[in-house]
Amino acid sequence: MDNPRTIVQQFDLVTTRSQMTLGVMASGHLVCLYLGPRLASRASFKNLLTDLNHASYLADTDGVHNFRLEQLPLAYPTFGNPDLREPALVVADETGSRITDLRFDHLETYPHKPAITGLPSARWDEQTRTWAFVLKDERLHLQVTLVISADEDHDVFSQHVICTNQGSHGLTIERAFSFNWDFLSDQYQMLNLTGAWSRENHLQWTPLKQGFQGVDSKRGASGHGQNPFIALAAPGTTWDHGQVIGVNLVYSGNFIAQANVDMHQNTRLQIGINPFNFSWQLNAHRTFKTPEATIVIAEHGLNELSARYQRFYQDNLMRSAIAKTPRPVVINNWEATYFNFNKQSLLTLAKKAKQVGAEMFVLDDGWFGQRNNDTSSLGDWIPNTKKLGGSLTALIKEINQLGLHFGLWVEPEMVSPNSDLYRRHPNWIVADEKHQPQLTRSQYVLDMSRSDVQDYLIDTLDTLLTENNIEYLKWDMNRNITDAYTQTVPPRRQGEFEHRYMLGLYSVLKALVTKHSRLLIEGCAGGGGRFDAGMLAYCSAIWTSDDTDAIARLPIQEGTGLLYPAAAMSAHVSAVPNEQIGRKTSLTTRRIVAEQGCLGYELDLTKLTAAELAAIQTQIASYKKLRRILQFGQLIRLPVAEPGNQWAWLKKTADQIIVDRVTVLVQPNTVEKRQRLTGLPPNALYFEQQTQRTYAADFLMQVGLPVDRPTGDFFSQRWILSRV
Ligand code: GLA
Repeated sequence: MDNPRTIVQQFDLVTTRSQMTLGVMASGHLVCLYLGPRLASRASFKNLLTDLNHASYLADTDGVHNFRLEQLPLAYPTFGNPDLREPALVVADETGSRITDLRFDHLETYPHKPAITGLPSARWDEQTRTWAFVLKDERLHLQVTLVISADEDHDVFSQHVICTNQGSHGLTIERAFSFNWDFLSDQYQMLNLTGAWSRENHLQWTPLKQGFQGVDSKRGASGHGQNPFIALAAPGTTWDHGQVIGVNLVYSGNFIAQANVDMHQNTRLQIGINPFNFSWQLNAHRTFKTPEATIVIAEHGLNELSARYQRFYQDNLMRSAIAKTPRPVVINNWEATYFNFNKQSLLTLAKKAKQVGAEMFVLDDGWFGQRNNDTSSLGDWIPNTKKLGGSLTALIKEINQLGLHFGLWVEPEMVSPNSDLYRRHPNWIVADEKHQPQLTRSQYVLDMSRSDVQDYLIDTLDTLLTENNIEYLKWDMNRNITDAYTQTVPPRRQGEFEHRYMLGLYSVLKALVTKHSRLLIEGCAGGGGRFDAGMLAYCSAIWTSDDTDAIARLPIQEGTGLLYPAAAMSAHVSAVPNEQIGRKTSLTTRRIVAEQGCLGYELDLTKLTAAELAAIQTQIASYKKLRRILQFGQLIRLPVAEPGNQWAWLKKTADQIIVDRVTVLVQPNTVEKRQRLTGLPPNALYFEQQTQRTYAADFLMQVGLPVDRPTGDFFSQRWILSRV
């Protein structure tokens, strides 16, 4: 036999600027050969692995001395063979054996990208090509297909995996990751987005070390504490320098995103459904499809990574009917009234909102059932006519007559024990038959894997949307899943529940947006507890955090905006002192930070002075003029002298740039210098409104704009530049 490590087939998957090269070794194993910037000329990787020195004390493979699978870069490692590292796939057969040995069978190519039934995934366009690498374990009659698409124009790869049982015996999948890549190096920094409720998605950098590292969720939602994302970056990577490889999962449930550095300084990067408490029965002739992972390679730092993710999600993942529709200026009554409102107070707020220029009145929690606090009525999506002073239809009509569109808060996945729905269907909740299920915020979770629950929600929400002129839904989810158990599958299949919950949720969302194609949905989960690419496929925006303080929002929006489009980050100007952390910031700073995302207002306008109302009116008028660039311009983070204390970013279209800068704490007797810009076309000229000067792009990038001396803490400044 030839050297089993010789590459006998090489596949170069390329986009305009990136390349993913896989190969088949003489042994038949599919291996990872290269993931990085596109190589200028076609390189042969034939001997990449034969050139590798042997590691010691590893098992031999296929009876070949020194053929050590464990040190080789495998594309989809399994369990029970000589690679004793972390598998990407674990499958048990009817005897209980988990030994799996996948070898490459054949390749199929498509000029497009197949949809993943039941799951959200990016759409294909003419620029997309797909390679399906079909692997087989003949003894198990198991076929595993890695479906990899390359979007040439967006410079994005995506991968999902299809497992097919081609035999007559049942198999059980115990894990099936969406993406696995083995690097022959450990010289990376890992980047994750981590945090908590009210401080979601902060960037977290850690140098890789030997062993496990990464993030995961077992909460039944992607969660506030971590995002389904992991990146490996060259040491010293910044927003503008350094190579980064990012992987994001298009999924909203339990996930794992991890890097394992083995004893020979190799790194295995994996992302997928969390194998914890997961299993899936794969009956004869059935298939299982994993969620999609999106893979972006940037050569020049996080701004490039961010631009590619944002543009790709905007163009190919978000609903095309709404992705590029200008988002309305929202007024949300939550922090203005909480549960304490009536028709009169809502209309008074709406009138003020109209007066300042808001466009969409969103009625938050408390409009239905008997809900005057958070202890009752979830599930009873029937308007409280007493509180609304008549029907919801009549209220909406009056709000529409004021010249405002209307949006409504719902929390469909939940039920209060004190609700008619629960009294009618106590068995619809997530619970087992022995334990008293846990309450959080006085609510249970509905079992979204049940088709009767899905039908009830589709029917109820469709009726609300059909009978009323509701153009916007805020879809909330205010607790995580405990007591994970479902009555819909037999005992040995309980590991399917949490994934089935997600499939149920996606099917309800899909049914609603299919019927109501213009409906804007704002996702929410106690703030950013489910801000992920799965929800983004249905939502025009997602409430970024329950923390509305402008300064606290800076790192939250920095991390969230690394991947997700700026227009999808809901951000509201709220009252001072801030309701969550008591900080006082100026209206200007609150607005500048909120305009980094999708601007709204969430405060009691009736308590503001005439001067404050006039200021908001001016803000909104100017926002409308700049809306196209603020919502759809490319978001670029700018270098500052004091990271963490100074924050600067710009939004850019072909003809305009808006530069914003915030200083958190002012320092005595420091001399503010200039704000340098990045990412401008080299020979362009710009006219800046505030200084009334014309600048060359290279001057702006090398020397910068003059910065004002802060007049106090939380100082902000904006420059507007037009291309001349
Ligand atoms: C969650 C949301 C808030 C608000 C409340 C209503 O906490 O994040 O914005 O909608 O629920 O109960």
